[in-house]
Amino acid sequence: MSEWHPDSWKKRPVIQVPEYPDQKALRDVEEELSSYPPLVFAGEARNLKAQLAEAAEGRAFLLQGGDCAESFREFHPNNIRDTFRVLLQMAVVLTFAASCPVVKVGRLAGQFAKPRSSGMETIDGVELPSYRGDIINGMSFDAEARIPDPKRMLRAYSQSAATLNLLRAFAQGGYANLVSVHEWNLDFVEKSGAGAKYKDVADRIGEALSFMRACGLNPGDVRQLQGTDFYTSHEALLLGYEQALTRVDSTTGEWYDTSAHMLWVGDRTRQTDGAHIEFLRGIGNPLASKVGPTTDPDDLIRLIDILNPENEPGRLTLISRFGADKVEDYLPKLLRRVKEEGRKVVWSCDPMHGNTVKATGGLKTRPFDRVLKEVKQVFACHNAEGTYAGGIHLELTGQDVTECTGGAIAVTEDNLSSRYHTHCDPRLNASQSIELAFLVAESIKEEREQLSKASAA
Ligand code: PEP
Ligand code: CO
Repeated sequence: MSEWHPDSWKKRPVIQVPEYPDQKALRDVEEELSSYPPLVFAGEARNLKAQLAEAAEGRAFLLQGGDCAESFREFHPNNIRDTFRVLLQMAVVLTFAASCPVVKVGRLAGQFAKPRSSGMETIDGVELPSYRGDIINGMSFDAEARIPDPKRMLRAYSQSAATLNLLRAFAQGGYANLVSVHEWNLDFVEKSGAGAKYKDVADRIGEALSFMRACGLNPGDVRQLQGTDFYTSHEALLLGYEQALTRVDSTTGEWYDTSAHMLWVGDRTRQTDGAHIEFLRGIGNPLASKVGPTTDPDDLIRLIDILNPENEPGRLTLISRFGADKVEDYLPKLLRRVKEEGRKVVWSCDPMHGNTVKATGGLKTRPFDRVLKEVKQVFACHNAEGTYAGGIHLELTGQDVTECTGGAIAVTEDNLSSRYHTHCDPRLNASQSIELAFLVAESIKEEREQLSKASAA
């Protein structure tokens, strides 16, 4: 394979990155960014890789979630806190029910750039360049706002830095202790329409905590229960920005993209000869690739070979996103092929991107039932193939939005517009997210029991 350098992607065909009208301004911003401090440390990315290696072997479970697109407008400590909080609540449910560690990764602190299916958007006969995320251009439908502005990268960097700073404080400063998270879950169980269904699991977590206390262990004093590891991730789409934050790690001499712990390539930019894959192959971070209906099994093996030539477990996560109506037709043959070829990957499931529909009023939505159905089918496929469903990838928010229909406190098509705030795709709200966690927990438990029976037989 040819030599890699942080800018070797520039020699490959590149799609989904903007044409900046002012190239000098772009160069100035990229140069400035290259002198800024890294947002994450390479050692943290390696720790995450080691935890993902456990997920690849079915001994841990990856929970990755957050906004479809972070925005400058929704930048507020309460939003960061509430998304973090909902991820913690989900993690406790999953950890308990599945009896395995949950690796927590936010789509946060850098998830700004969006691929679009069309470069142009037309409203009432007016055609403008599409909105590509706040790191690139503005969402409002006017010609000026839609011009890609490199200065937006500086603002995205500083928002990411502040977000990450708060997340680190929450993760280690006492906010994330198990006792509080359990109390938030009890509150959910009490208030949610589906509460009774989940009371049993919540009660059992409560009993486990009481048992610890009876043994003389105060859960509030146990270091492992006081805080948590929390990692960040985003789609590595805007390659100029990613390149500017790519640095040599002084302890190993390897290159790391310090904009986040984990980077993924989207379904539209994962061509094996394209610029995005060229960029990703050279950085030491744990990587992920979306896998969708257009993924051919031979291509997938080629992609794995490029991104993970040493077959190192934890290096590569494959995020399947087919849609509830397609997953059974497409996923099994990919699972089989990857297994036959002996490639070590974490298989994660994104039940969001294949299940987007237009509601009657024209808003994009995702029916909760379809999200759930895809998750269940993914587990069934893994069960049948003897592979592990190692994670879940969600678009969610801690806010009480009305973007996806359904769930225990049902959001209907009619009330979608009441609190529809997303800058891109519809997200699960806090209660839908926790409900999903309870349901996924049951599936993991069943899967692990079946697989351990099969390996004992
Ligand atoms: C996303 O994760 O926001 C996204 C655009 O997904 P995909 O690349 O799978 O369409
Ligand atoms: Co999305």
